Amino acid sequence: MAGHDRHEHEHERGNEHGHSDADGPEMFEPPAWDEAYSGDEARWSGNPNAQLVAEASALTPGTALDVGCGEGGDVIWLAQRGWRVTGADFSANGLARAAEHAEAAGVADRTDWWQVDARTFAPDGRSFDLVTTHFLHPPDHGMVHVVRRLAGAVAPGGHLLVVGHAPSAAFAHLSASHRDAMFLAADLLPGLPDDFEVLVVEQRPRTTVRDGETMEVHDSTLLARRLP
Ligand SMILES: C[S@@+](CC[C@H](N)C(=O)[O-])C[C@H]1O[C@@H](n2cnc3c(N)ncnc32)[C@H](O)[C@@H]1O
Repeated sequence: MAGHDRHEHEHERGNEHGHSDADGPEMFEPPAWDEAYSGDEARWSGNPNAQLVAEASALTPGTALDVGCGEGGDVIWLAQRGWRVTGADFSANGLARAAEHAEAAGVADRTDWWQVDARTFAPDGRSFDLVTTHFLHPPDHGMVHVVRRLAGAVAPGGHLLVVGHAPSAAFAHLSASHRDAMFLAADLLPGLPDDFEVLVVEQRPRTTVRDGETMEVHDSTLLARRLP
């Protein structure tokens, strides 16, 4: 399955296998994600996300942090391009899978793992040339606060890339709490500290296939650079 199908894929998997994916408030907490990453089957395609490829391909490799890294597809892609990458997630099972995938991809020596909750994230003295997060949707419009926290981990001259689902009819099948957690890129701007310049703030169309049906979704995409 192609990388751009990963998030629609999440919901298909739950249905296909007869267990219900968390779609209430519990989906915002680690146990639901640990459950999602239990069992034998990969949850995501393993391919990098489209907006990461679009933006990071042009950057000079350095150190990177991927928050909400899941099974590590983006971490591995970055590592294969020469970055030293820390994958962060609040799910221990997700991180364990990601580490296995990095090992299998031959990039274990360029990766490390950090169990953190983005809602309380603190850089702990670490900084990165790229901080990236894809499809992390904390509840109650919490992403703007997460952006503020993640910005604190960006090195001077480094980049912050935040991508999530824009609300749309394509997600009408999800619960209200799930849909409310989605955001537009401009919603995140209040979370950016003053020493960041905004490079991209837009919804980017992306074609995906769900249940055999081709549809268009939009990736809310914020790219900003910390001034040197
Ligand atoms: C929709 S998945 C996306 C995974 C990956 N970024 C990708 O694009 O394939 C969301 C990921 O964020 C993690 N996550 C959700 N809320 C989180 C939080 N508050 N702190 C850290 N990780 C979180 C989940 O465990 C899950 O791995």
